[in-house]
Amino acid sequence: MRGTGSKRAPHAAAAPHAPAAGQRAAGRAALALVAGVVLLLAVPSCGTGGGGVPTPEFDVLPSLNEIWAPYFPVGNIVSSVNYSWRPARVADLGNQAREELLVRQFSIITAEDEMKPDWLRPQPHTWNAAGADRIMAFAQEHGLRVHGHTLVWHSQTPAWMYADGDRARSAEAIANMQYHIERVMRHFGDAIESWDVLNEVFPSTVGGGVSAGNWRNFLRGYSGWLRAIGSNPNGDCFIWIAFTTARRIADEINPNMVLYYNDYNLDSANKRLAVYYMVREMNERFARENNGRRLIDAIGMQAHYHASGQGSGAAYPWGPTSPGAVGASIQRFASLGLYVSITELDVTIGNVTLSPRMERQQANLYAQLFQVFRDNAGSIRRVSIWGIDDPASWRARGNPLLFGSNLRPKEAFWAAANPDAFRRNANAYLADPKAFIDERFWR
Ligand code: XIL
Repeated sequence: MRGTGSKRAPHAAAAPHAPAAGQRAAGRAALALVAGVVLLLAVPSCGTGGGGVPTPEFDVLPSLNEIWAPYFPVGNIVSSVNYSWRPARVADLGNQAREELLVRQFSIITAEDEMKPDWLRPQPHTWNAAGADRIMAFAQEHGLRVHGHTLVWHSQTPAWMYADGDRARSAEAIANMQYHIERVMRHFGDAIESWDVLNEVFPSTVGGGVSAGNWRNFLRGYSGWLRAIGSNPNGDCFIWIAFTTARRIADEINPNMVLYYNDYNLDSANKRLAVYYMVREMNERFARENNGRRLIDAIGMQAHYHASGQGSGAAYPWGPTSPGAVGASIQRFASLGLYVSITELDVTIGNVTLSPRMERQQANLYAQLFQVFRDNAGSIRRVSIWGIDDPASWRARGNPLLFGSNLRPKEAFWAAANPDAFRRNANAYLADPKAFIDERFWR
């Protein structure tokens, strides 16, 4: 891989592996030339290009991870495969520009899909970890940390695993769940520092009136796990079984492993409360039965946000995300004595098209969000973004990420790099970002 050494030094004043300035300029000129030719030949209109030839400036940027290192690590997802159904989905691994960008900008990675149940174990006797293993090797080679995603989920899970949601076969579903958690956690061992044990047990919207005693009434009804096993507080509860199993295995692998409950729309007040009560009950029971020990260590706020209410490319009727509500959720969860992480950050705007005005609006929300993360940094364990560039995003139509076509850093990137400068005077900042970001973060 050109220009990226095998390990990054997070606080290094100057990256020791950076090529000499002359070399860089020559490289940029060559890239610019290639980019120009390819653009002329192959990209008749804007909006596609994904993993194509990067914009010349993509490798002379400040590193988000280095900028934020005093507060929290910044992460991203990695994919080992192409998805034919996505506008410009490209594998990150094996693509030099994408690998380089990942290593330079981020310090902790999540597999976008390769560690999900349907990927690892599509059939009871199939084990398909080749993609995940390649991601682990990439992480190891470049000194990146790895977060595991996800052990138990209603989605991207083969129906056989939850016994087709059949209550009469609940014992089979429990055995499958326990076997799956154990097999997957043991396979990756302590090379993975934290796991999303359970993902999305509540639906997109949770109604009013949630309380400590009734949160179970608000669980996602169409989860095969809930249907097969149930959530009886005095009997089998799929949530309790998932976390106690993962805790037992974690104790054998690495007692410091961080176990997460992960969900989306947690900025909504009702859903925030449902998750709060659920996690509190699980942790209180476990503490009673285990000398005050904690069961769930962390809450993952997926943070699939929206800079405008409509036309975002992903149905979302609730209007733009409020940074204040995000901060309120971080604080509420932290009040349980747990870590909070931002696990899948992306912010949609527009529907395929992205005008300069929309790009500014989106960047403003990114800036506000990073200010909220910084203000709550004492509770935040990591901030991970869900993808590198818009064309490769699972929400590509909503242009949600920090980079655009051909890995162009969008205004959102600069907003994340220095939110204060961006919000104070975006034009002045964007005209000369070097004047606003310490030179030790650049390469
Ligand atoms: C998405 C991936 O990005 C897509 O590639 C896949 O097709 C669907 O899942 N919540 C999660 C993630 O926890 O696993 C989802 O990832 C996005 C929503």
